[in-house]
Amino acid sequence: MHHRPVLARAVSRLAAVRPGELWVDCTLGFAGHAGRLLEAGARLVGFDRDPDALGHARQTLAPFADRVNFVHGDFRDVQALLADLGPVDGLLADLGVSSWQLDRPERGFSFQATGPVDMRMDRSRGEPAEALIRRLSVPELAEVIRRYGEEPFAGPIARALATWAAGPGPFDTTTLARAVVGALPRKAAAKRRHHPATKTFQALRIAVNDELGALEALLAALPGVLAPGGRALIISFHSLEDRLVKRRFADLSGRNRPQAPRRGLPPPPAPPAAFDLLTRKPVTAEADELDDNPRARSAKLRAVQKREGVAA
Ligand SMILES: C[S@@+](CC[C@H](N)C(=O)[O-])C[C@H]1O[C@@H](n2cnc3c(N)ncnc32)[C@H](O)[C@@H]1O
Repeated sequence: MHHRPVLARAVSRLAAVRPGELWVDCTLGFAGHAGRLLEAGARLVGFDRDPDALGHARQTLAPFADRVNFVHGDFRDVQALLADLGPVDGLLADLGVSSWQLDRPERGFSFQATGPVDMRMDRSRGEPAEALIRRLSVPELAEVIRRYGEEPFAGPIARALATWAAGPGPFDTTTLARAVVGALPRKAAAKRRHHPATKTFQALRIAVNDELGALEALLAALPGVLAPGGRALIISFHSLEDRLVKRRFADLSGRNRPQAPRRGLPPPPAPPAAFDLLTRKPVTAEADELDDNPRARSAKLRAVQKREGVAA
């Protein structure tokens, strides 16, 4: 397998695939993780919402063709997409966009190359980022940039984006990035470790693809799609995602006490936990991986296992 996926060792250990098990890889991408699950003997259903990614995965996984089912779809629909296959023994999601997507100028994810302001993972549906920028009011844009980019200068950047959209063009990722940089106080921009447009581009990408909505739907569906003993492994890349995963896994494994119905009243007893946490703390990359894969720097892996004897 030419592509080394993030946290590969930890994924293999926590997945603990037994030959013949049915797994779903919700985010096939370049199929690095999928290849390893298949090498360990799994049968696999692989989703990607990007048809180009799916095409690459199909080629990479050709040696395993008799054990893989490729599905062009959004993992928010996991339950419906798996309806005919029944519960799975394992589920993996390696969230966000791939470096391949980021590096293609025509996809519009990157401020380092000139391309259309698109950012959709699935270009067959939905609204490109440029249309989103034009549709939202300045306060709405500022909210997107603040919430999904955790950007302290969201207000001035939102105003700059509105000016950019009303200007003469050209409307591409380079002029957009320039508008963002121009909205930041020079000292603040110079102090940043990453390119000053990183947070804004992240925010727009998350909004365009409703990435957090998709993750919430996936997390909600877990009890219904996993077989007893089934494992769910999720790799996230920023705190907004990790927070959702951490909270949901804590709920599933009975680590969050239910809220009291009113102040002064005791909380109701916690329902019996249906899951066990396999990771008390998120697993992060080891030094050797950080050396050859900068994307691994912010990766966090969390895993749960459905208890035996709990119905799907
Ligand atoms: C980080 S890459 C996955 C890399 C992959 N694990 C590997 O080893 O090569 C994420 C992939 O998931 C896809 N993706 C992101 N969100 C998705 C969603 N909600 N439903 C389906 N696919 C999604 C992206 O299009 C991208 O190809």
